Amino acid sequence: MAEAEFLSNLTRFFRNQAHFDALEHFVIPELMRIKQAAGNTTIKIWSAGCSTGEEPYSIAMLLSEILPPPWKFEIAAGDISPRSLAAGKEGFYADSQIVGISDNYLKKYFDKVDGGYKVRADIMSKIRFEHQDLKNGSALQDMDIVFCRNVLIYFDEEARAALMGHVWNSMAAKSFLFIGNSETLFGMDTRFEFVKTEWTALYRKFI
Ligand SMILES: C[S@@+](CC[C@H](N)C(=O)[O-])C[C@H]1O[C@@H](n2cnc3c(N)ncnc32)[C@H](O)[C@@H]1O
Repeated sequence: MAEAEFLSNLTRFFRNQAHFDALEHFVIPELMRIKQAAGNTTIKIWSAGCSTGEEPYSIAMLLSEILPPPWKFEIAAGDISPRSLAAGKEGFYADSQIVGISDNYLKKYFDKVDGGYKVRADIMSKIRFEHQDLKNGSALQDMDIVFCRNVLIYFDEEARAALMGHVWNSMAAKSFLFIGNSETLFGMDTRFEFVKTEWTALYRKFI
C-alpha cells in the first residue's frame, strides 16, 4: 500500500472559520496595500496538503466575493495523494459533504447534480491541482498566502523544520502563512513572525 493511503485526508469547507475571517479582514487588506504600492494586482495562494479540494475551493469562493477589479487571484493546490487530487479536480461533493457553505455561495458557485453538488467551472479555473510531496520541497515561488494546515502532524521534528524552510522559500518577501488550529511553530527555528489578529493567530514573512 502506498504511503499516502495511510494518511488522513480529513477536511471540510471553511474549516476553522476564524482563518477565513482573518483572511478576509486582515490578510487581504494588508496584501492589497502592499502589492498595490508595487503595482501588482494578482494574489498568489498555495494550498499545501489540499486533500480533496474543500480548502482551495473555500478560498476561491471567498476571494471571488471580496476582491474588487482589477484584482485577480490564482491558487496552486498540492497533495501527495493522487486519489484526493482526482476528487479535488472533479469538484463533485456529495450532499453529506456540503456543510458550512452558505446558501448564497452554494447558489453562486455550485450546480446541483445527482447526489450532490459540482463546483462551477469559473471557480475551478482559479485552481491548479498538482501532485506534490512536501518532503521534497516545491517549485512554487512568490506565494502571497500559504495555507499549510493540518499537514505538519504527518512530519517528525526534522521534517517539519525542513517543510517550513521549503514553505518560506516559496513565499513572497511580504506574505502570510496559516497552519492548523492545533499546530504551532513555537520552538522551531524559523524566521516566521507570529501575528495575533482579532480573528486568529497566523504567521508572516516580512523581509
Ligand atoms: C488532514 S488533511 C488536511 C487538508 C486541509 N489542509 C485541511 O486542513 O482541511 C492532510 C493532507 O496532507 C496530505 N499530505 C500528507 N503528507 C504529505 C506530503 N508529504 N506531501 C503533500 N501532501 C501531504 C495528505 O494526503 C492529506 O490530504
